[in-house]
Amino acid sequence: MLLSTSRLAAAALVGAAGVNAAYSIATPADIRATARQVAWDLLQYYKGNQTGQTPGILPGPPPAGDYYWWEAGAMWGTLIDYWKLTGDSTYNQLITDAMLWQVGPGKDYMPPNVTASLGNDDQGFWGMSAMLAAENGFPDPPADQPQWLALAQAVFHTQANPDRHDTTCNGGLRWQIPLSNNGYNYKNSIANGCFFNLGARLARYTDNQTYADWAEKTWDWVVGVGFMDEEYHIYDGGHVEHNCTDINRAQFSYNSAVYLLGAAYMYNYTSGSDKWRDRTSALLDATLKTFFPDNIAFEIACEEHMSCTTDMLSFKGYLHRWMAVTTQIAPFTAEKILPVLQTSAAAGVATCTGEDTGRACGFKWNTKAYDGSHGAGQQMNVLGAVTSLLIEEARPPFTNTTGGTSKGDFNAGSHSDTFDGHLIPPTTADKAGAGILTVLILSAAVGMFGWMSTGL
Ligand SMILES: *[C@@H]1O[C@H](CO)[C@@H](O)[C@H](O)[C@H]1NC(C)=O
Ligand SMILES: *[C@@H]1O[C@H](CO)[C@@H](O)[C@H](O)[C@H]1NC(C)=O
Ligand SMILES: *[C@@H]1O[C@H](CO)[C@@H](O)[C@H](O)[C@H]1NC(C)=O
Ligand SMILES: *[C@@H]1O[C@H](CO)[C@@H](O)[C@H](O)[C@H]1NC(C)=O
Ligand SMILES: *[C@@H]1O[C@H](CO)[C@@H](O)[C@H](O)[C@H]1NC(C)=O
Ligand SMILES: *[C@@H]1O[C@H](CO)[C@@H](O)[C@H](O)[C@H]1NC(C)=O
Repeated sequence: MLLSTSRLAAAALVGAAGVNAAYSIATPADIRATARQVAWDLLQYYKGNQTGQTPGILPGPPPAGDYYWWEAGAMWGTLIDYWKLTGDSTYNQLITDAMLWQVGPGKDYMPPNVTASLGNDDQGFWGMSAMLAAENGFPDPPADQPQWLALAQAVFHTQANPDRHDTTCNGGLRWQIPLSNNGYNYKNSIANGCFFNLGARLARYTDNQTYADWAEKTWDWVVGVGFMDEEYHIYDGGHVEHNCTDINRAQFSYNSAVYLLGAAYMYNYTSGSDKWRDRTSALLDATLKTFFPDNIAFEIACEEHMSCTTDMLSFKGYLHRWMAVTTQIAPFTAEKILPVLQTSAAAGVATCTGEDTGRACGFKWNTKAYDGSHGAGQQMNVLGAVTSLLIEEARPPFTNTTGGTSKGDFNAGSHSDTFDGHLIPPTTADKAGAGILTVLILSAAVGMFGWMSTGL
């Protein structure tokens, strides 16, 4: 009863003021005020700072709650951008506490609690948020705690480890990390996209070619295996038992966005090379064409019939945020990107008239009205879109010679759990390797004993 009364009251309020009583994005001050409220509403989904709850995560993973582990990692990144773009540091301590709680024993974002659904993409999202912290001068953790850059490096290094790259499908990362997980037999664009994105950003930040080589190699693999076609459409993935030829052709906006931003970083790292300019430019055109009908973000694989999963309900936010940063490091893209982000964000904000508060954000932005859905993803999408409107007044991402202070570690992740031994049985190749090793050890022993006996 109470609920429907307050809904009516909220509806009346909205009606009186036109499309949306609560929100304006007309001026930078309006954008900041809107973002502040949307961020507060987003954090109502976070329970990790309450007594008895686990810090750092959104309620989950299913069936314990709606959200997989990765989505909180993505949320902290969204809130780091919120701080960077609006200047509001209200949540900085909350972000730091959350991101440090979840690092896991190897300080590499592989906490044992989430092993059963730990994908390279899940780990990658936390790694990209740590990278974002380093790139934007987000306050460094205390010296006795893991540092942002080292955490991003640890994620990248564990993924570059030979253990994660087998020869099925000619290379590439699998989706899941432990062999026993569902999806270990799937290689997909997002797992490799996070790795590519992180590699490109680490290359630029540390000015180390090793990372760029991996990024280049990963891009080539994704094209070679057919996950990215000649028109720069990016498809979801394929199975190793089919040599990845059974391509699932669903296109998701976070895939295009994660590769677009990575390509822009490679463009910047290579001092504006033609190769990466062409790739960035073509991928941008495909992204705009596929995901922005009428210049409004649209999750083409699932939005029309609202078959999006909880994960998919958050992709528009990354799309906006990563396109915004693309304009900073590949400035030639700004002219195309900024007007679209403006139109799309305005549509997103217009959906924020829902639920008890009268300002919960919906998902179907092209209706410019609340659609009855609400959640952390919907809030994150609008928050990402609104804060990104301030990108032109923001400083570009740092490198370690242009203001970055985060301490790195080129050995981070080298003592991480490889899930070897206790999970992965030896393959034929491993047995052959072990056999050769045995022979070598035997002949070394023979040689040593032979030398000893002659010496005696
Ligand atoms: C948790 O964090 C939110 C957002 O900063 C804050 O409003 C709330 O009071 C905090 N709760 C506790 C129990 O500290
Ligand atoms: C793992 O789960 C336990 C039990 O819910 C919790 O106390 C702990 O904080 C969790 N660890 C992490 C890193 O989330
Ligand atoms: C598997 O696909 C790759 C291209 O991704 C190709 O180079 C390789 O020859 C294929 N292997 C087999 C066994 O078909
Ligand atoms: C690289 O990024 C910086 C911003 O950090 C920008 O000023 C510069 O123009 C970019 N380089 C190129 C070649 O676009
Ligand atoms: C940046 O990182 C490189 C590679 O580790 C290092 O040689 C250099 O000293 C760093 N520069 C600064 C200013 O920290
Ligand atoms: C570059 O990065 C790689 C991988 O982390 C590391 O092994 C190497 O030592 C780094 N090179 C330099 C010159 O810092």
